[in-house]
Amino acid sequence: MKPQAITSRQIETAANLLRVGGVVALPTETVYGLAARADSVEGVAKIFAAKNRPAINPLICHVSNMEMASNLVNFDKTALKLADAFWPGALTLVLPKNGETVADAVSAGLDTLAVRMPSHEGMRAIIEAVGAPLAAPSANRSGRMSPTRASHVERDMKDEIDLIIDGGPTEFGLESTVLSVRDGEVTILRHGAIAREEIEDFLGIPINEITTAKTPQSPGQLLRHYAPKTPLVLNSLKGEAQLGFGTGGTMDLSPRCDLKEAASHLFSMLEELDQLGADEIHIAPIPNYGLGVAINDRLTRAAASVAKS
Ligand code: TXA
Ligand code: MG
Repeated sequence: MKPQAITSRQIETAANLLRVGGVVALPTETVYGLAARADSVEGVAKIFAAKNRPAINPLICHVSNMEMASNLVNFDKTALKLADAFWPGALTLVLPKNGETVADAVSAGLDTLAVRMPSHEGMRAIIEAVGAPLAAPSANRSGRMSPTRASHVERDMKDEIDLIIDGGPTEFGLESTVLSVRDGEVTILRHGAIAREEIEDFLGIPINEITTAKTPQSPGQLLRHYAPKTPLVLNSLKGEAQLGFGTGGTMDLSPRCDLKEAASHLFSMLEELDQLGADEIHIAPIPNYGLGVAINDRLTRAAASVAKS
């Protein structure tokens, strides 16, 4: 999906609000983010309040150039290689914090910081205009699905934020892949828009998988997440709200069984099916490789989370 361009007027308006501690919803290539200056205690506090986000869950800092990134975190050789290859893009690197101050709440007391340089040009232009990194989680209330359209943000949290910049539907429709890089060890903390295989092929070494049995390295992994209101039934296709994958259905994630296309439709189609008021949403099996791993991760969490609430 080609992103809708952002005008220089929108860039200026957003940057002016952000500069003085405002909170603005912005499009990225993955999902919409809820942004504030990372060094604004007040702005960052507004993000946590608007999302009702637990304070233990740290935020990603978005940068527009490498200098900004190196002021925030220390890159070892592996991290530099990854940034070179995948930035700007949908890869978040969790690295040891550097000297530059960001509001304490951004890193939730950890000695690491998550950093990403988005490929969305309008988003990068806004960061550049503000002249400081922007902390931005996905622009949804905590535990709900990530927004892939401005209208999702508007419906969910209009009253909590200063401005929503509409950049049309997002390109990937799935959050960035989060990797921790420490002492040459690479661990995947969240599957996302860049498939694990692509990163492994590039590095030529296997990357570790985080398991909940280990000490939680990515606090967000432990939280309820990505849930529509209607209960989900996985690997089944019946009833009045069916989400297919090359199978047809009320909606089909990708009639041609393309995982990238399916990822880009996942949240918006779940949103639409959620509006039908059906008893359940049934979802066809999705292959568990490539971007399918991230899709299945979101679906499993969503299914578990609704069942528990
Ligand atoms: O695509 C994306 O990543 C979007 C767009 C807006 O950039 N952002 C996003 O942010 O999905 P959020 O806050 O919804 O997810 C960030 C994830 C969480 O799972 C969080 O726990 C993890 O990154 N994270 C952030 N800082 C971390 C850190 N220092 N150590 C480990 N995990 C961290
Ligand atoms: Mg999120």
